[in-house]
Amino acid sequence: MDSIPANRRLWNQISSAYQHEHDPQIGAAPRLWGMYSIPDAHLHALGDVSGRRVLELGCGAGQWSRVLADEGATVVGVDLSEAQLTAAAAAMGPTRYSLVQGAAEQLPFAADSFDLVFCDFGGLSWAPPHLAVPQAARVLRRGGRLVFNVASPWFEACYDESARRVTTTLQRDYFGLNTIAEGDGATSYQLTYGDWVKVLRGAGLAIDDLIEPRPEPGTPNGYNETDPPDWAHRWPAELLWVTHKP
Ligand SMILES: C[S@@+](CC[C@H](N)C(=O)[O-])C[C@H]1O[C@@H](n2cnc3c(N)ncnc32)[C@H](O)[C@@H]1O
Repeated sequence: MDSIPANRRLWNQISSAYQHEHDPQIGAAPRLWGMYSIPDAHLHALGDVSGRRVLELGCGAGQWSRVLADEGATVVGVDLSEAQLTAAAAAMGPTRYSLVQGAAEQLPFAADSFDLVFCDFGGLSWAPPHLAVPQAARVLRRGGRLVFNVASPWFEACYDESARRVTTTLQRDYFGLNTIAEGDGATSYQLTYGDWVKVLRGAGLAIDDLIEPRPEPGTPNGYNETDPPDWAHRWPAELLWVTHKP
């Protein structure tokens, strides 16, 4: 299915409100992962990027990209939404990096262009993984890494649409997750653990780690209500995959 036009429309519509609500959290400090803003210094997912060619898939307003550019990486932020790219351009600091409009499932870059491809709830949450993962693998050089954070199937399967919160009850089939309707045809994507392994290995990537970021009790979720409030301290809310191209 082609969700590019609808996802682009959605993010153009919500960009301004999204940044107003979430930028203070996402941009509060360098290198914060996911819904609970867990520092990379605790998770050790990304490593040293100085001198590396880095691609962020679905960079949004560039909170990650600008930090990695400041650390000495040559960064390209790709995003589907011109409104999100405008927000990224407006927030760019003195260290410039490139912004490109494009889709994670059709990357406009040559093979072997990057040392690191990564995202945090970006292109690998909003593009079909069976298309976007092979694209990421294609643009990586041998030895390069694909690192990305997505919602966990637990989180999605326990999300109660009508109550608009994550619960302790299974609300939908684990094996039926696949696509999540985000309104007006916009779609996000979720795979089972087994399908992630198949898609990653099928694209020729080796899996180095699957980090399950675990917030301390009392850490607020900036995006979703959970019941109980410390849900993510007890069950995994996110999957942070660390892979490389052998
Ligand atoms: C939740 S934001 C992630 C960016 C940032 N890490 C954040 O947390 O705000 C999702 C981003 O993915 C972008 N996006 C949606 N579909 C995409 C696609 N198919 N390819 C690339 N980017 C896409 C959206 O425009 C949006 O900027």
